[in-house]
Amino acid sequence: MTTTDDLRGAAAPPAGRSAAPYASHDELVAAFGEHVHPGKVRTFAALGVDVVMGERQGPRFQDAVSGRWLWNCHSNGGVFNLGHRNPTVIAALRDALDELDVGNHHLVSGWRARAAERLAASTDGRLPGVVFTVSGSEAIDVAIKVARGSTGRRRVVTTDGAYHGATGLAVAAGGDAPTRDRYLLDLPDFVHVPYDDLPAIEAAIDDGTAAVLLEAIPATLGFPLPSPGYLTGVQARCREVGALLLVDEVQTGLGRTGSWWFHTQEGIEPDALIVGKALSGGVYPVSATLLADAPFRWFTEEFGSHPSSFGGSELGCVVATTVCGIVGADGFLPHVRDLAARFADGFADAPFGVRQRGLTMAFETGRDGGAFDAWAQLFRAGVFAFPAGYDTSVLQFKPPLILRDEEADTIVALVRTVLG
Ligand SMILES: Cc1ncc(COP(=O)(O)O)c(C=O)c1O
Repeated sequence: MTTTDDLRGAAAPPAGRSAAPYASHDELVAAFGEHVHPGKVRTFAALGVDVVMGERQGPRFQDAVSGRWLWNCHSNGGVFNLGHRNPTVIAALRDALDELDVGNHHLVSGWRARAAERLAASTDGRLPGVVFTVSGSEAIDVAIKVARGSTGRRRVVTTDGAYHGATGLAVAAGGDAPTRDRYLLDLPDFVHVPYDDLPAIEAAIDDGTAAVLLEAIPATLGFPLPSPGYLTGVQARCREVGALLLVDEVQTGLGRTGSWWFHTQEGIEPDALIVGKALSGGVYPVSATLLADAPFRWFTEEFGSHPSSFGGSELGCVVATTVCGIVGADGFLPHVRDLAARFADGFADAPFGVRQRGLTMAFETGRDGGAFDAWAQLFRAGVFAFPAGYDTSVLQFKPPLILRDEEADTIVALVRTVLG
């Protein structure tokens, strides 16, 4: 029988060295403010969440500033779905480092083939082609390029409040007008409509539309769930006009909602699926765009269609293959579903609104900016969640998928004490 210990890997390794290569916190913050991001230093301090990640292990990390351990219920959007320093992933990466490096992206590679095979199998072969990238943003750019190139059309329809990443096309597709304007990336032929409004999106999709790109549960908007029939309706309209349906599962994929992919729960079959974050196992960057047969054939007719020196690095592909092995292992997805039910029970009569699909959850505070206060309060109590950037009344809550039952109960109790 598979146990939770099996799912989170073998015996825990000893605690690592301190993550901060500075003698004091003040020195660290001064260097970060000077060379990396002064705005971040100011903002975090003002919000009362002055945190630096120190040691990390399984579902928790240590705040290097205070020395306190925090339950990681943000999981960096899913990067830490398998917890911190998952022993199975670390062991695979260590082994790979004995004989591999990033490889040469121009060449044929068995490691890339193996990871692609595993990802394609997770879609039951419906998306047989895999283009590897370094980041989710890059994978979004690939999906948009393929859609435009293969259809010969320019129009890309997306929704307000979606976040698709920080590269050029991903920003143009993103649902945040100030960000697009800031970088002069309000590109022609990118159309934004309200999320979960079927008539609005149906009207926006025409025979000049290359693709609809959807974050099926928009994370930065605080995980509002799609109404029944919304996603199938969008798909039907796409099929009607010959537009591709691109689904961004950077946050919802790889088991997060209790199945491999959220879109299968909604009965849709995208032409491209964007995968990132958790595929890295939290230790080595790797992301991917999975493609249906027709766009894949079109894309790979040409040699070197998306050259990316580190996209699908061989070390990254070993990690991705290992992550797919864990998600596909007996008992993993049932455990996620059991945990989801446990959280649902735990929050059933909570005095705050809870949005939930699997272990994708969010808490409604009912007022703009309320998520910042809830975030700081939970932080002081030892739970690290994260405010939704485009709806500051909502706190994102995404615990790792490898929690033990009793750990989930502890977290529920802490949240209820603080927010209740
Ligand atoms: C839904 C979604 N899509 C795409 C991205 C971009 O991924 P990355 O940060 O790896 O470029 C993110 C990142 O947060 C995301 O949440």
